[in-house]
Amino acid sequence: MLQIKDLTITHRKDLRIILEKFNMVLNAGDKAVIIGEEGNGKSTLMKWIYDPELAEEYTECEGERIITGEVMGYLPQELPEADKAKTLYEYFSESSFFFDKNPKELSEMAIEFSVPKDFFYSDQNMGSLSGGEKVKAQLMRILMDNPTVLLLDEPSNDIDISTLELLEKVINEWKQIVLFISHDEVLIENTANVIIHLEQIIRKTKSRYTIVRDNYKNYIERRARDYERQEQQALNDRREKKIRDEKYKKY
Ligand SMILES: Nc1ncnc2c1ncn2[C@@H]1O[C@H](COP(=O)(O)OP(=O)(O)OP(=O)(O)O)[C@@H](O)[C@H]1O
Ligand SMILES: [Mg+2]
Repeated sequence: MLQIKDLTITHRKDLRIILEKFNMVLNAGDKAVIIGEEGNGKSTLMKWIYDPELAEEYTECEGERIITGEVMGYLPQELPEADKAKTLYEYFSESSFFFDKNPKELSEMAIEFSVPKDFFYSDQNMGSLSGGEKVKAQLMRILMDNPTVLLLDEPSNDIDISTLELLEKVINEWKQIVLFISHDEVLIENTANVIIHLEQIIRKTKSRYTIVRDNYKNYIERRARDYERQEQQALNDRREKKIRDEKYKKY
């Protein structure tokens, strides 16, 4: 189980509240997507979940994180600078379990991820890989460490259809917890069963979040209906006010 209690994140620089009293519980089988406009704090939230210190480099964070028994695997939005200069072999060697894998296991993994068998031993730099290759390398490396929770920050950016399908398969077949960030509506529709929506409202002065246990299509449709209803209500309110004002003027 992954639980977050009353998490509030404030940006150090402008004291903007990125997230306020955020509560969430995820269990095995949950495929949760974090959606929201750019800059709304999706990556910051994921960093905090993986390692609060990463978020605390530029934010103040207050809250509780309960991750007893879980092992987290994290794919950051950008490949860290330090990893770019590593060769694929150096990158994989850093997994504590790489050398425990026998050639058969590695070759099965290579087939599953559609990469050459010698991919793990390649002297190509991580930084020079294509978008799709980079995501594959990161995912394989994460999976080698036998995590229970997958944290994937925009893995669907800059990858081709076949890698996207692979990603969809990995998410759908994951038996434990997946939390991912994506703007790819098809991927979200085909995988997510929990939607976490981060918003900045009232001219970006207030943070609001919504968590629903439903698929993306239903969430978006319901939101559109709610919005329409609110617009209609506002229109009615204005009409009533106008009638009241006119009556008042007469008297
Ligand atoms: N390393 C950093 N140093 C200082 N401020 C940062 C840093 N990373 C993010 N921020 C700021 O924190 C806020 C939240 O950023 P975050 O990266 O979490 O947004 P996001 O929702 O992931 O956006 P995107 O969709 O563009 O990836 C933004 O105002 C951003 O400018
Ligand atoms: Mg981000």
